[in-house]
Amino acid sequence: MSDALISGIRPDRLAAFSRREAATYAKSRPRAAKALASGAGAFLNGVPMHWMTDWPMPHLPLVAKAQGATITDIDGLTLDDFCLGDTGSMFGHSPAPVAKAIRAQARNGLTYMLPSMDALEAGRLLTDRFGPFRWQIATTATDANRFALRVARAVTGRPKVLVFNGCYHGTVDDTMVELANGATVARSGLVGQVQDLTRGAICVEFNDLAAVEAALKTGEVAAILTEPVMTNSCMVLPEAGFHDGLRQLTRRHGALLMIDETHTISSGLGGYTRVHSLSPDMFIVGKCVAGGMPTAVWGMTDAVAQRFAAYNSTRAPGHSGMGTTLSANPMQFACLVATLGQVMTPENYARMEAGAERLSKGLRKAIKFHHAPWHVVRAGARVEFVCAPGPLKNGAAAAAAHQPQVEGAIHTGLLNRGSLIAPFHNMMLVSPATKKRQIDHLIASFDAVLSDLFKET
Ligand SMILES: Cc1ncc(COP(=O)(O)O)c(C=O)c1O
Repeated sequence: MSDALISGIRPDRLAAFSRREAATYAKSRPRAAKALASGAGAFLNGVPMHWMTDWPMPHLPLVAKAQGATITDIDGLTLDDFCLGDTGSMFGHSPAPVAKAIRAQARNGLTYMLPSMDALEAGRLLTDRFGPFRWQIATTATDANRFALRVARAVTGRPKVLVFNGCYHGTVDDTMVELANGATVARSGLVGQVQDLTRGAICVEFNDLAAVEAALKTGEVAAILTEPVMTNSCMVLPEAGFHDGLRQLTRRHGALLMIDETHTISSGLGGYTRVHSLSPDMFIVGKCVAGGMPTAVWGMTDAVAQRFAAYNSTRAPGHSGMGTTLSANPMQFACLVATLGQVMTPENYARMEAGAERLSKGLRKAIKFHHAPWHVVRAGARVEFVCAPGPLKNGAAAAAAHQPQVEGAIHTGLLNRGSLIAPFHNMMLVSPATKKRQIDHLIASFDAVLSDLFKET
């Protein structure tokens, strides 16, 4: 009988819970339902960005306002926001210094294709926060990764990027590969993809240094592109020695090490790289780096910058294939300066860390109390409950642990109780604005949901 359980839950109980929570949700937001029915037809599939259909609730709420760690919707309901724009608002919605910087810059123009004094200050602060890299500004982390990868290929003269199975680095085509029976293949489901992605990428499992070494030995790998912790699946932590191994192997085989901190910036000041003393050749971070203003940064060490200068001096004139017109605009710089200088502070990180620890402890206690075969994992301010036993070793294990049916039901159950968590997996972020009472309320709601799902009758 037990093999019929889903994440330890009886299927009939899960189905009843899902039905009940969906009905409660649908009844609770009549204004949003009516507005969407009459106004969403202009959009493809009724949403302005297709991912929005991946939220699990019966229909989307329409947001009226977001401040700190709270969202208010047009039905007048408030939500404690632990999704925080999937990291874009990790420091809270509209942090005061950023809102002030936006108001001030709005008086002085939005985009010039020229630097400002803020640009110089942003450069200084980026180095101060993340390390001595030579910086460039992009608008999305996808673009930042794409441009960094071009430089890696240019300076090494090699074609391939090594990525880990189950990774996500934005919609960079080159990284859209996965492992199937030990071979690198294009991911299933890619829209309109016609290139042979396996010519430019090789995929191995996270935490598998032997596979990394075998791939590097081919001499085809320009760079390893990795998150320090795999966050875009059920979260996978690096095993002891994994990052040292990556560094040693890349040096030995002449490949670059690119660390994408777009999510792991939750780890603490300077990201996982600083907290754990990593030494990448290239550093990429986006999303929350300018407090929610669309901005990403990518940087390279002096050594890579010198190699790139040598490459550039021999390159034929013409388009580089890097850069977008609205990038490095003065609004981004104003927001970078405000965020790096006044929001991304040791004090704020300490608050986030303490809140996230409180949340993890509470969730673990509830899981233990209900004998759920689940676990909780944390990377600084980023907390996740996984509806399977842990720890997870790699992307294959993370994919097997992902239970969309269970997760969707829990998400809706938590929404009905006033907490919003990230839609694609069970991720929760604690911002400096998140209150203890919001954390305790989420723990209590999680416990109530588990009481229902694991009730003995
Ligand atoms: C690790 C990582 N890198 C890059 C990106 C891409 O960010 P964006 O969608 O802002 O381009 C994401 C998005 O989730 C991410 O998780």
